[in-house]
Amino acid sequence: MMRNIKSRDEAARRGAEKTKDKTKGPRKIARRYEVGPCYWRAEDGREYFFRAPTLADGASLWLLARDSRTLELNSAYSYLLLAGHFADTCVVAERGANPVAFVSAFVSPAASDTVFVWQIAVAEEERGRGLAQRLLHQLLARPACRSVRALEATVTPSNAASRALFRSLARNLRVPMSAGSGYAPELFPGGAHEREELLHIGPLPPAARGRALTEAGDVEHDAQLLETTTS
Ligand SMILES: CC(C)(COP(=O)(O)OP(=O)(O)OC[C@H]1O[C@@H](n2cnc3c(N)ncnc32)[C@H](O)[C@@H]1OP(=O)(O)O)[C@@H](O)C(=O)NCCC(=O)NCCS
Repeated sequence: MMRNIKSRDEAARRGAEKTKDKTKGPRKIARRYEVGPCYWRAEDGREYFFRAPTLADGASLWLLARDSRTLELNSAYSYLLLAGHFADTCVVAERGANPVAFVSAFVSPAASDTVFVWQIAVAEEERGRGLAQRLLHQLLARPACRSVRALEATVTPSNAASRALFRSLARNLRVPMSAGSGYAPELFPGGAHEREELLHIGPLPPAARGRALTEAGDVEHDAQLLETTTS
């Protein structure tokens, strides 16, 4: 159970203070303050914990993708790769001890100011609570995204939920979203794949990242935990 939850604004303010003050406490605390692991309570009282994945999460990510019934299911190996090599830009949400949602992403090797969201999935029973939105805020608040000025993703025309999610993100961050050509059907084997449209959200000024940080969750519990373990 969560105790002593501060308001998000208060948590963000304290996080910013800790991040700025390099003379107090171990650097590890300051860095973690910037990004979370974070707690978040949805309006209906459900509580979630956001963190980076570990290799032990690879199978859960695969199961969440499989059970989404919308995402293209990649090999189990690829989710291990994500959890192992791209943990800095992937986020897992847990309820209780169970992973119930994730976002996988990477900073584009060709454009280090762009984070590309590969997949995002929320377990069916957790949907409609703002969890996917929160995962994206978490992602943008990570140190690995410090230099990021745009977020991109591809969506198929039939995936209304995905499109609504990214539109909502752009609106919440108060930045523009544009759509361009992503991957044409003929690029896929058999040509039976839907068109993938490229969504571009940005430019993301520091204020947008600040908004993401404020919305990313409540750091208080983790701070207490870290202070206990490092003192
Ligand atoms: C898409 C998905 C991740 C959304 O998760 P979620 O936690 O329910 O989304 P949120 O509650 O954060 O909603 C974010 C926005 O999307 C909208 N939205 C979510 N599901 C929607 C749906 N089925 N139809 C229309 N809009 C939807 C919400 O209304 C909200 O918009 P708002 O801020 O304007 O109200 C989830 O439905 C899912 O896992 N789908 C299967 C996998 C998938 O398609 N992933 C995306 C492609 S990578």
